Amino acid sequence: MSFSQPIGVFDSGYGGLTVLKEIVSKLPQYDYIYLGDNARAPYGTRSYETVYHYTLQCVEWFFRAKCPLVILACNTASAKALRTIQQNDLPRIAPDNRVLGVIRPSAEVIGDYTQTGKVGILATPGTVQSDSYPIEIAKSFPDIEVYQQACPLWVPLIENGEHHGPGADYFVKEYTDGLLSQCREIDTILLGCTHYPLMRDKIGQFIPAHCRLISQGEIVAASLADYLDRHPEMEERCSENGQRHFYTTDSTADFDHHASTFYGQSLRSEFVSL
Ligand code: DGL
Repeated sequence: MSFSQPIGVFDSGYGGLTVLKEIVSKLPQYDYIYLGDNARAPYGTRSYETVYHYTLQCVEWFFRAKCPLVILACNTASAKALRTIQQNDLPRIAPDNRVLGVIRPSAEVIGDYTQTGKVGILATPGTVQSDSYPIEIAKSFPDIEVYQQACPLWVPLIENGEHHGPGADYFVKEYTDGLLSQCREIDTILLGCTHYPLMRDKIGQFIPAHCRLISQGEIVAASLADYLDRHPEMEERCSENGQRHFYTTDSTADFDHHASTFYGQSLRSEFVSL
């Protein structure tokens, strides 16, 4: 029997399932473990210290579950915790393991989408405050101008299943207007929170037709495939039995009920206490 070393995929709650869905579609052969820290979501309005502390706890849980590679499929955790975990914690707790985020892969390709060189980011307050997107985009595309809008109420609307209702319209208009009023030449808008693809159609109703909406799932999946190609030493540690396991820090019944909307198919989760 092969020793299972699944790829870990993490989010504060359900949002990372939109990323896992695309990863599984592109790289179905690998084993995956998903963890949603639903008991402590949302992360988007929490302090650096709290997001870092929660994320590190979850990463350590993945390592105990034998994952050699963990994807933080959460922009907020990528923005506020990834660098410290990579630089300070990994060398101490698991020097051969790796933790990757979703911000850099998105920043590295955003220039392929924009004609005007004016890009908008819709994200949680935590991701916006961190300035991670302007910083990372400037590394690959120094001439691109980045405009950001925090959308604090979108994750609660989505987590409560209210994102399709008429009540959501007010806050979709509020935040999309807030972004577009900063620069009328924005032609590319990145959904910089892994929850937001669930609202993609509604967001599309409130932005001009020439604006392109970009979700991260396919971008992160392509980036992971590329990473595994370039790192055969990691690729050979990732087991390939096509297995998926889902864990939540809160009610499994709630998780199973909501998760299918994000993942595109029904699933059964298990409870984990951190
Ligand atoms: N899905 C997370 C992200 O991509 C945010 C959700 C939350 O606020 O916890 O930023």
